[in-house]
Amino acid sequence: MNGAPRDMDADPGELLVERLRDGLGLTGTKVGCDTGQCGACVVRLNGRSVKSCLLLTVQAAGSEVTTIEGVGSDGGPTALQEALRAEHGTQCGFCTPGMVMALGDLVDGADTEPAEGEIREWLTGNLCRCTGYHGVVRGVQRACAGARAARPADAARGEGVSAS
Ligand code: FES
Ligand code: FES
Repeated sequence: MNGAPRDMDADPGELLVERLRDGLGLTGTKVGCDTGQCGACVVRLNGRSVKSCLLLTVQAAGSEVTTIEGVGSDGGPTALQEALRAEHGTQCGFCTPGMVMALGDLVDGADTEPAEGEIREWLTGNLCRCTGYHGVVRGVQRACAGARAARPADAARGEGVSAS
């Protein structure tokens, strides 16, 4: 769990999101719908984003689970979190942890800056009632551009791209 081993018992019917929030106090993971539609509960399981309201705790046994509390370093934001802030991709913030956990796959794996349509398609599993998604899309573009610029090969070619 966020890099530290946890030994725990779980009821067979307990949802992973219940364990995270109620059992472990990791309340950064939100519950918006409890039916797999909103994406507020997304965490990473062995590096892949999953909706923790659709997963039993026992199904996560032996896996690496990462929640929003486990991203970033030294308490600082990730590049994606910072880009979402800079581009006004977050307002009330309820959806933001789930978006960060889901979008990390896209940002980390981006060899080229994803097109707006690709980002919006990626976001179909994460609902936001505040931002209208425009700022989120710009934030992802900014984060992807920054990630590319930070890679030695791209930096040497001067391929950093501004999303503004
Ligand atoms: S609470 Fe899991 S998808 Fe909405
Ligand atoms: S920022 Fe409020 S729901 Fe997305």
